[in-house]
Amino acid sequence: MKLQSVRGTKDILPEESPRWQHCEALFRRVAALYGFQEIRIPVFEVTELFARGMGETTDVVSKEMYTFLDMGKDSLTLRPEATAGIVRAAIEHTLIEKNPVARLWYCGAMFRQERPQKGRYRQFHQFDAELLGAATPEADAEILAFAYQIVRELGIASFEVRLNSLGNTPSRLRYKDLLLEHFRPVRHQLSQDSQNRLERNPMRILDSKQPEDAEFVRSAPLLTDALDDESRAYFDNVQTLLSALGIPFTIDPRLVRGLDYYCHTAFELVTTRLGSQNALGGGGRYDGLFEQLGGKPTPGVGFALGIERLLLLMEEEGKLPQTTTATDVYIVALDAASRERGTQLAFQLRGCGVRVMTDVLARSFKAQMRDADRTGAALVVIIGEHERERNVCIVKTMANGEQQEYPLDAAKTLAALVQSTNAPHQPSNSIEHTLNTGM
Ligand code: HAM
Repeated sequence: MKLQSVRGTKDILPEESPRWQHCEALFRRVAALYGFQEIRIPVFEVTELFARGMGETTDVVSKEMYTFLDMGKDSLTLRPEATAGIVRAAIEHTLIEKNPVARLWYCGAMFRQERPQKGRYRQFHQFDAELLGAATPEADAEILAFAYQIVRELGIASFEVRLNSLGNTPSRLRYKDLLLEHFRPVRHQLSQDSQNRLERNPMRILDSKQPEDAEFVRSAPLLTDALDDESRAYFDNVQTLLSALGIPFTIDPRLVRGLDYYCHTAFELVTTRLGSQNALGGGGRYDGLFEQLGGKPTPGVGFALGIERLLLLMEEEGKLPQTTTATDVYIVALDAASRERGTQLAFQLRGCGVRVMTDVLARSFKAQMRDADRTGAALVVIIGEHERERNVCIVKTMANGEQQEYPLDAAKTLAALVQSTNAPHQPSNSIEHTLNTGM
């Protein structure tokens, strides 16, 4: 039986890799603009990290984690997100003590056992950034500006920033009371999940997608109504800063995010063009997370963007990067001895930093020329017996069809020629012109 990839996972095929590389290069570049450094965290962690960090009553922790026993003993989990792991690493390596602020980013695969559909996978990829050590509205604005700049620079236009405040701890406690007052009288009409969450974590009822909960969730009190003066002032400050940066945002008082660690600023970047999987990314402030994970009180704020969703939207908007050619030079060899000479030349050219492809199937001249055209090589080097005897090769510039002889042992001259041939050849469907040159 033919084996297949696991449901909810995807192969990123060679023709798709350039668009991933395009995004990754942009993430890296914009991260440097904001002074963020890359951190790389393990794919799995102890399960407790996520249970404590993200909250046991969240959907992600209670239903979606890939958890397994290591050697039959320790419970480990494939990371469903990066924030908890990064904060764990910051505590473990005392990153904040060495420096009062750490700006960290990470890009990699995350795992959630969700029902797969367009834009929702069981293995997906996030670009994640965390600013640790600063409890200021400036830090929140910087994080939001960072996320916004990435999405804009990817060329995406159809998205908006939704913003809310979850306030400080007293505000959230007051809000929990308001929710209890609201939900308790209708407890028995709620879904089983929501009933289970009612006393433990009523805010999580707001994440419910169950139809029987919808009406009660819609009529629930808003978080903004429970904010105290300090929380309100903080939120106002963040808004003023964003307005000063010219970053448009919409206040969404129903935005609570699906993870427990948030306080104060919470935000999402949403689009209307990807159906129900409308969040390109999200983030916010999490000032209690360090302590929950056993560290000293340290504030933090961050975001994660879902790369698959960014790519889907870029495709929708026609913003995927143009595919570029895979090679600079294609060497066409006409007999066994020429192939040997061609292999040598290829090795020398690659040593000079030139991308070279050779025919490894000993194909006919016509087939090699067709292959050269397919690769989009700017130059084709042709070596036959006649050329070898005179220690030359023919160099054909694909863009204009011009042909010229060069010494076979002058790899550096050829490398310089590649540099100067900066107009890349676009593969065509016709090889007639080449074939008609009589080679
Ligand atoms: P999150 O909202 O759970 O936040 O995920 C962030 C983004 O990851 C989502 O907006 C979405 O684009 C993408 N994503 C999530 N689940 C899936 C899935 N099953 N398939 C495809 N894409 C998905 C976090 O993960 C937080 N750690 C963000 C954060 C960082 N908060 C503070 N710092």
